[in-house]
Amino acid sequence: MQVHKYDVVIIGAGGAGMRAAIEAGQRARTAVISKLYPTRSHTGAAQGGMCAALANVEEDNWEWHTFDTIKGGDYLVDQDAAEVMAKEAIDAVLDLERMGLPFNRTPEGRIDQRRFGGHTRDHGKAPVRRACYAADRTGHMILQTLYQNCVKHNVEFFNEYYVLDLVMVEDENGVRRPAGVVTYDLATGDVHVFQAKSVIFASGGCGKIFKTTSNAHTLTGDGMAIALRNGIPLEDMEFVQFHPTGLAGLGILVSEAARGEGGILRNSEGERFMERYAPTIKDLAPRDIVARSMANEVREGRGCGPNKDYVLLDLTHLEPAHIDAKLPDITEFARTYLGVEPYTEPVPVFPTAHYAMGGIPTNIKAEVYANSEETIPGLYAAGEVACVSVHGSNRLGTNSLLDINVFGKRAGIFASEYAATADFLPIPDDAADATVAALNKLLDGQGTEKVGEIRKELQEVMDADMQVFRTEETIRNAIATIEKLEARYENISVQDKGKRFNLDLLEAMELGFLLQLAKVMSVAALHRQESRGGHFREDFPNRDDENFMKHSMVYMDAESEFEGISGMRFDTKPVVFTRYEPMERKY
Ligand code: FUM
Repeated sequence: MQVHKYDVVIIGAGGAGMRAAIEAGQRARTAVISKLYPTRSHTGAAQGGMCAALANVEEDNWEWHTFDTIKGGDYLVDQDAAEVMAKEAIDAVLDLERMGLPFNRTPEGRIDQRRFGGHTRDHGKAPVRRACYAADRTGHMILQTLYQNCVKHNVEFFNEYYVLDLVMVEDENGVRRPAGVVTYDLATGDVHVFQAKSVIFASGGCGKIFKTTSNAHTLTGDGMAIALRNGIPLEDMEFVQFHPTGLAGLGILVSEAARGEGGILRNSEGERFMERYAPTIKDLAPRDIVARSMANEVREGRGCGPNKDYVLLDLTHLEPAHIDAKLPDITEFARTYLGVEPYTEPVPVFPTAHYAMGGIPTNIKAEVYANSEETIPGLYAAGEVACVSVHGSNRLGTNSLLDINVFGKRAGIFASEYAATADFLPIPDDAADATVAALNKLLDGQGTEKVGEIRKELQEVMDADMQVFRTEETIRNAIATIEKLEARYENISVQDKGKRFNLDLLEAMELGFLLQLAKVMSVAALHRQESRGGHFREDFPNRDDENFMKHSMVYMDAESEFEGISGMRFDTKPVVFTRYEPMERKY
């Protein structure tokens, strides 16, 4: 076992991890550990923009942005976090501009801004231009810019190292704190331990729980599952965002910017159906509302295509030059993957699993909660892996690129400040034993089950039973299937028995993470007998503030049982209110 020593260790080299690294790297010895090469991280797939009330093209202010975020999240948003994010958004964009990000510009040379779902002028009166963007490759540009700046600040990267465990030990005061992380080097098959004073999770989401997803193959929820296995609860995991416009049948993201630039959703009758569901802001309603409306059109027989199973995104009324300037990548995806020419033909689209609103619970300093009240000294999380909770039950488009920049920066600052005051905790001799045993079990095992088959069945049941519409029956079916798959998982083995670049082995480990998270997600969904944001229960179609205006907290706990599922414990955490009373959510 090789041991490395850093003040701050950051898990993940996407936007949140690298934004944290830029801060921590200037204050403390910092390592970023990533299972990918940094510029391949999933932030690079984010398309349409990053919002901030710059008011460059029309009147706007951060208070309107705060309100939209809270209302968009169906009032489950922690309002202190939303205020921080909307207020610090302006500096977050300007930081990136100073680092060299090539934003699109207005004719006067200001950063240009465009419309996105749920972002409005004066508390819902009309859509507002709040999203700063670089064509439809904003995430790609952010990732490149942050990486270049990490290099400038001598941040050390350990690429293609998989973090497989967190080392938690009791300090002299009996407080459990992180002492480091256990990693697996893909190139050599060696296990390395990184000792650290502060650890930041920035490892992204878990979209690969679903079959139809905009997420990359690597989004397997590793950080969330590792936290869970170490006794840390996961917050609000029942809330998954289904982005309305995935390419039909494929799930590849077609940016909401297409609608921000004037695109219209139509059903088989050619009707602009969002006029019925959200009369004021129509196609630019928040994603949960648009996704459900699309699914409803299909259910009621107004879907398109031979199987009537998608709707159409119509850009044909836009000038081709405008499409080329503002939406070059996504229109190319439509040509390449569906053979559709967006200048002249509408694009087939259907909701795709896009984003986990839930995750590792944190406060506005990105400190991780051990339970509903206390935080863990030295442990931080930011970005999609975290639940701060700034998105509540439904995130607004462009608030995630903002979240990673605002809370990534905060995590980097607070983690390095903590490291300046703390001592290293000793790494126990057996710190890597459980990880090594799990890897050896897979390598040496003679099991007959195949990773790919179990993963496929998991993804299929989650698409069928845990998507836009849910009922007790569908959720229970998902849980029963997951439990059968868990039993089969005990009998898997990997074909590749080698040490070098053994992706077969790592995919088996990732499948273990996916199964656990799918179960947490489903159990939390079963418990929440109401409909709110991205979680729609057909058997409980209304929001129930009296009983469910609280965050769910699910723990892994061998001694406990929750909703008839053994090994899980449930608790709640209060929602933080500052000044916005919950209202009916009309658009
Ligand atoms: O539609 C998009 O461009 C995605 C943006 C987001 O998820 O924030």
